[in-house]
Amino acid sequence: MKIKKSLGAALLLAGLALAGAVAAQDKAKAETAAEPANGGYSEEGADTCLNCHEADHATKEGAIFLSRHARPDDARTPFGKDQLQCEACHGPGATHVKTKKGKRDKIIAFNPPATRAPAELNAPCLVCHENKARIAWQGSTHEVNQLSCATCHSVHSGNDPVLTAATQVDVCGKCHKKQIAEIHKPWSHPIVAGKVVCSDCHSVHGSSADKLLAKPTVNQVCYTCHAEKRGPFLWEHEPVAEDCTTCHSPHGATNPALLKKNPPLLCQQCHAAAGHPAIARTGAALPGGTGGGQGFLLSGGCVNCHSRIHGSNHPAGAKLMR
Ligand code: HEC
Ligand code: HEC
Ligand code: HEC
Ligand code: HEC
Ligand code: HEC
Ligand code: HEC
Ligand code: HEC
Ligand code: HEC
Ligand code: HEC
Ligand code: HEC
Repeated sequence: MKIKKSLGAALLLAGLALAGAVAAQDKAKAETAAEPANGGYSEEGADTCLNCHEADHATKEGAIFLSRHARPDDARTPFGKDQLQCEACHGPGATHVKTKKGKRDKIIAFNPPATRAPAELNAPCLVCHENKARIAWQGSTHEVNQLSCATCHSVHSGNDPVLTAATQVDVCGKCHKKQIAEIHKPWSHPIVAGKVVCSDCHSVHGSSADKLLAKPTVNQVCYTCHAEKRGPFLWEHEPVAEDCTTCHSPHGATNPALLKKNPPLLCQQCHAAAGHPAIARTGAALPGGTGGGQGFLLSGGCVNCHSRIHGSNHPAGAKLMR
């Protein structure tokens, strides 16, 4: 598992010698820096490390060799030809290898308690991954809040839980207790069942939209799966075209259809109760009752008549009834 020194030096400096998240483009500049950190890379690459770490991290549950990263046939991976293997992520380890127990030089460790700032832990990952979705990482909510890539990702594994539908929610749930409580309400997206995942709606590596949304607006997020609500409609219902979350809680609700409130209260936030059936469902509201009820509410709610609540294409659908 010998590694090529020249490339090693370049990656070493790009990834680690500079503080903070160093982009791959900075490699050239970094090459001119003086001393390699931690004595440079070890001579034999992973072979050296495995002399001591085979039992804990190479073969057991966290096996790196089961992961997408350990593909010798894929030159882009840490175990590809001329790559740095373990040290592509853990940084140069020559001194770590030589020094003795008790005085052993610290190499980059990801598990808590982390001995380095998140930006330093992320730098080696970003050397290879500052593409695609991660372009937005710098300045994103999670980056600003000091998350490291390894807070969410388990790379010593053939099956990273955050990339698996059934288990992603447990990873996010370590920090987002409120949303986890919401998805357990009586009505919710089938997130617990693993049919919808948090990352269907959120771009966790960064987004130009609010709340790390995966699309520029809330509605565009919803349309990816509820395309029929997009229209275009001959008769639009204004709040629907504007923002689905005016009426729906995306994570979960105690009302059917994820509604924030049930009709008629939901509707009466905007539609005057006067002039139209709008009094509460008490005896007084019934026909013949003291409230002068007109029977509208007998049918159980506004949407029984205004069933095209999201918009209508019927020529006579102006009142959203057909
Ligand atoms: C001579 C045995 C030996 C070799 C070779 C060795 N390590 Fe270690 N390493 C240890 C021991 C022992 C520890 C636990 C800390 C201690 O006791 O110093 C450790 C700790 C670590 C840690 C946890 C963080 C830390 O610094 O304590 C990481 C990560 C690590 N080693 C990675 C590597 C990598 C990558 C290589 C190959 C470049 C490597 N080790 C080579 C013995 C070794
Ligand atoms: C793709 C990057 C990557 C590669 C390659 C890699 N590791 Fe790791 N290593 C990590 C991350 C991230 C963790 C934290 C736990 C996890 O994600 O599973 C970790 C955890 C460890 C730990 C526990 C201490 C700690 O928290 O960092 C040791 C020891 C270790 N790795 C040794 C190795 C050895 C030996 C190799 C090569 C055979 C290797 N690693 C290859 C990224 C990597
Ligand atoms: C030497 C380059 C390199 C480094 C360093 C590296 N990766 Fe990767 N990583 C890759 C390649 C190549 C793939 C496969 C990508 C593909 O198939 O398109 C990959 C795949 C992944 C995947 C997807 C895994 C899967 O099962 O689909 C994750 C997550 C990931 N890397 C996270 C990390 C993290 C976190 C770090 C830092 C601890 C890291 N990587 C360091 C090159 C690297
Ligand atoms: C808040 C948790 C979280 C953090 C922090 C995080 N990721 Fe991810 N990552 C995910 C989730 C969820 C996915 C799958 C959905 C997606 O791609 O958005 C993913 C997917 C990936 C993939 C594979 C998907 C692809 O695009 O091929 C890579 C590679 C990756 N992340 C790298 C990184 C790197 C590098 C960092 C640190 C800069 C990082 N991640 C930080 C949660 C996280
Ligand atoms: C280690 C803790 C941690 C983990 C794990 C984590 N987050 Fe976060 N997340 C935060 C912090 C801290 C914030 C910023 C404060 C807040 O809004 O609570 C945040 C904010 C967010 C926001 C709001 C963004 C904004 O701009 O207001 C979303 C959405 C989010 N996270 C989704 C996720 C998803 C999805 C996952 C799992 C893939 C995840 N997070 C995993 C800590 C975490
Ligand atoms: C069906 C789409 C969808 C899914 C799935 C989803 N979210 Fe959200 N999330 C949203 C929308 C839309 C918002 C912004 C509006 C709102 O807060 O009601 C949001 C807001 C957030 C916020 C910011 C809350 C605040 O008040 O600032 C966090 C944190 C969050 N989501 C985490 C998660 C986590 C964790 C999961 C997985 C358990 C998840 N979301 C699943 C659509 C979704
Ligand atoms: C990744 C796909 C996906 C996205 C994105 C998505 N949904 Fe859903 N939605 C579903 C699935 C799947 C169901 C469950 C359907 C079922 O049980 O038949 C559902 C159910 C619902 C329901 C309840 C239906 C019922 O009959 O109780 C509402 C309301 C809803 N979604 C609104 C939204 C809103 C608002 C958004 C945007 C914030 C959104 N959805 C984004 C997939 C998605
Ligand atoms: C003015 C309030 C309101 C807005 C805004 C709204 N909805 Fe609804 N939605 C409702 C009501 C009320 C129901 C329950 C209908 C019923 O009981 O028949 C519902 C039901 C649903 C359902 C389940 C039943 C069905 O028709 O498929 C889905 C899915 C849904 N809405 C998605 C959306 C999406 C996506 C948006 C944004 C484009 C949106 N809603 C905006 C009020 C609203
Ligand atoms: C966030 C505010 C809001 C909520 C909540 C809301 N609407 Fe509307 N609705 C509007 C607006 C604005 C219009 C357009 C009014 C206009 O054109 O005069 C409208 C139009 C309508 C129309 C067509 C009226 C007309 O004059 O042609 C009907 C019917 C209607 N809404 C029923 C409902 C029902 C039933 C609910 C509850 C499920 C509801 N609305 C919830 C704001 C809302
Ligand atoms: C029994 C059927 C029925 C029920 C239930 C019903 N409506 Fe209507 N609604 C109608 C009819 C019919 C019209 C059109 C005739 C009219 O102009 O009075 C209408 C018209 C409207 C309009 C347009 C403005 C107007 O007065 O023409 C709004 C807004 C409206 N309804 C909201 C509601 C709300 C909010 C509820 C629930 C509190 C509700 N409706 C319950 C049948 C119903």
